[in-house]
Amino acid sequence: MKPINIGLMGVGTVGGGTAVVLKRNADEISRRAGREIRLFMAANRDLVRAREAVGPEVELVDDAFAIVNHPDVDIVVELIGGDTIAKDLVLQAIANGKHVVTANKKLLALHGNEIFARAQEKGVMVAFEAAVAGGIPIIKALREGLSANRIEWIAGIINGTSNFILTEMREKGSGFAEVLAEAQRLGYAEADPTFDVEGHDAGHKLTIMASIAFGIPMNFEHCYLEGISQLQGRDIKYAEELGYRVKLLGLTRHTEAGVELRVHPTLIPESRLIANVNGVMNAVLAKGDAIGPTLYYGAGAGALPTASAVVADIVDVTRLLTADPEHRVPHLAFQPDQLKDLRILPM
Ligand code: HSE
Repeated sequence: MKPINIGLMGVGTVGGGTAVVLKRNADEISRRAGREIRLFMAANRDLVRAREAVGPEVELVDDAFAIVNHPDVDIVVELIGGDTIAKDLVLQAIANGKHVVTANKKLLALHGNEIFARAQEKGVMVAFEAAVAGGIPIIKALREGLSANRIEWIAGIINGTSNFILTEMREKGSGFAEVLAEAQRLGYAEADPTFDVEGHDAGHKLTIMASIAFGIPMNFEHCYLEGISQLQGRDIKYAEELGYRVKLLGLTRHTEAGVELRVHPTLIPESRLIANVNGVMNAVLAKGDAIGPTLYYGAGAGALPTASAVVADIVDVTRLLTADPEHRVPHLAFQPDQLKDLRILPM
């Protein structure tokens, strides 16, 4: 059988990690996918850096449109980020009949309704495990593992940078700006770290999880956002003296009254598991009506953990390629008319 050709757009932290994982675990990945998967083409502005990451055998270009328009690319992997050029590329890839794997939470939270509608029209898949909680397979858990349940609520630490900052401030008494710079150096933070510390990134991820869990369209504009930038060392210290940890939580629940989406710093008793999720680690609690509460934990950012989720999606899409397009289950399905029922509950 012909190999599956991957076109990688963006060879930064996560793109570089994806190239490493695809190469390092090539045999396991192809065995699990039932087909050889090969990195065929990559696009990056800095070609020298990209060449080091992808090796000599991969075709390298500086214009990502060459990937989405290439007839031999089967799956386009979008790791550019943002919602300008990335949106054009993803829509063009879909229009060209290519399957898409993306880690881009902002793109999906803001434009997911349009992107998934186009994908459905064209019969292509858009997979996005890496968009939420880094390496934790939370999308697959919500969509597949809990598929027998009515999901009642989700609560999670879903921004690694903020959690890293809060942890370092509490454990070492470090200053906010100093720890943020370290998070940037380690490749955890967004290109614009305001997205991390003001709760936008967590809001994007929460929006995506709510859409999967409740079968509703993306509703980022209805998400209440409050980040950690106003917190001071003494807030964290006083909380600790009272037996609490401060965590930036994303919370969503679905009740008869409507859907609630909110991100804000939260006091959590230190005896709770989620209060002890430290550093760049993420954790998501999800309650299903049949199973009760469940907890998912793992690295929420960084090159290889996020690449783990990207490559898992490549495997997932490759497996589904064998199904008749009409019988493929889309990675996100919602009822557009459910939007009118959405109400934001008062805080
Ligand atoms: N900036 C994000 C975070 C990266 O810190 O969680 C992973 O989505």
